[in-house]
Amino acid sequence: MRTTWTFHNAEQLLFGRGAVGQLGEIAESLGTRRLLVITDKTLVDAGLVDQVRAPLAAVDIAVEVFDGGEPEPPLHAVNDAIAMATESKPDLLLGLGGGSNMDIAKAVAVVMAHGGSVKDYAGDQIVPGPIFPLILMPTTAGTGSEVTAASVLCDTDAGGKFGILSNHLRPKFAIVDPMLTVSCPPKVTAASGIDALTHAVEAYTAIDNEDFPLPEGERTVYQGRHPLADVLAERAIELVGRHLRSAVEDGNDLEAREGMALAATLAGMAFSNVGVAVVHALEYALNQAAHTPHGTGCGLLLPFVMRFNASARLTQMSRIAELLGEDIAGLDAETAANRAVTAVERLKADIGIPTGMSEVGVTAEQVPEMAKAAFGVKRILRVNPRSVTQDDLESILQSALG
Ligand SMILES: NC(=O)c1ccc[n+]([C@@H]2O[C@H](COP(=O)([O-])OP(=O)(O)OC[C@H]3O[C@@H](n4cnc5c(N)ncnc54)[C@H](O)[C@@H]3O)[C@@H](O)[C@H]2O)c1
Ligand SMILES: [Zn+2]
Repeated sequence: MRTTWTFHNAEQLLFGRGAVGQLGEIAESLGTRRLLVITDKTLVDAGLVDQVRAPLAAVDIAVEVFDGGEPEPPLHAVNDAIAMATESKPDLLLGLGGGSNMDIAKAVAVVMAHGGSVKDYAGDQIVPGPIFPLILMPTTAGTGSEVTAASVLCDTDAGGKFGILSNHLRPKFAIVDPMLTVSCPPKVTAASGIDALTHAVEAYTAIDNEDFPLPEGERTVYQGRHPLADVLAERAIELVGRHLRSAVEDGNDLEAREGMALAATLAGMAFSNVGVAVVHALEYALNQAAHTPHGTGCGLLLPFVMRFNASARLTQMSRIAELLGEDIAGLDAETAANRAVTAVERLKADIGIPTGMSEVGVTAEQVPEMAKAAFGVKRILRVNPRSVTQDDLESILQSALG
């Protein structure tokens, strides 16, 4: 039985409105003369790249921009970014964007440091040592990638997502400036926001660290639920409950933007140490079948998985209900836990996340294949509080058809 746990994070974290203004001095403190921004065209057009250029120009750091980032990043985008980095020889990489661009930047930093090609590092703890110096700045409030140990990429030819998972992937600096999320359209705000909730819920209800079934000698960044992650996840859930609707309704509500930015980072800190579980395993399959954005898929599936896990996690589920603003006084544990599920269902409806998979074009015939694909993602399934069979996954997916 393993009863010890660790906590890993970005080396340093700077949080707050206007934090982008400190980018110049931070880059300078890392000895930077030449920096490559990894981003996408939408963010160039939204003026966000100009916002990072200004503080860097003030300290005479040369800036080049790779703007070929794409959502659910395909390998070709990563390879293009590596080609540009090899050519321009920066001494610091800056990943600017949602999870997609940040994950591209992480993969580039791995290959810049260790050579070879991206897929050489697919899997858990394959990266052999520290990566190329990297700063990450999120422009969505969702993935928490700015502090996590993962880079999630898409190999469209080989059929689907794969991950590079290593504590070396956490950047030197995560700079979280909620003002960078103000230009997020409501759909992106909703999808990324409910992804953050999913991270927090999956970490908070995960299998306990001492019960985590880690085979002898196996190394992984995930380690099951532990007390520090619990604190972070609880706060993240509360912040999402308080701010996500407002951030979707009015993108200029800065208090809501700040609350969601904090929620996403805290949830990232929690899940990247504890693990994510069945929602994320099923999301891989849903993404393959329907090409839904990651956050939309996670949000769609979340209440169905919570219902499946409730019996194993009554105390935590009741607390989630409370954190989401439900009055559970006088309710028995089962009813209180169910309130967490209905609270998430209402949140989904209010922010426009599809209720069921049929809304995104999935048919009953696809379910067995999807369950099979999800059952292959053992690395995260073992984080779930209830052990699951392929049949269990199939029933959850059937219930999620809607
Ligand atoms: N590395 C991790 O730990 C981790 C965790 C969860 C998810 N992910 C991955 O992250 C990706 C999803 O990331 P995401 O939800 O942040 O979305 P995203 O990065 O895919 O961005 C979605 C769209 O929103 C646009 N956008 C982003 N910020 C904007 C802004 N401020 N203004 C206007 N438009 C903006 C982007 O240009 C893009 O077109 C998926 O590939 C998922 O698998 C990674
Ligand atoms: Zn996620």
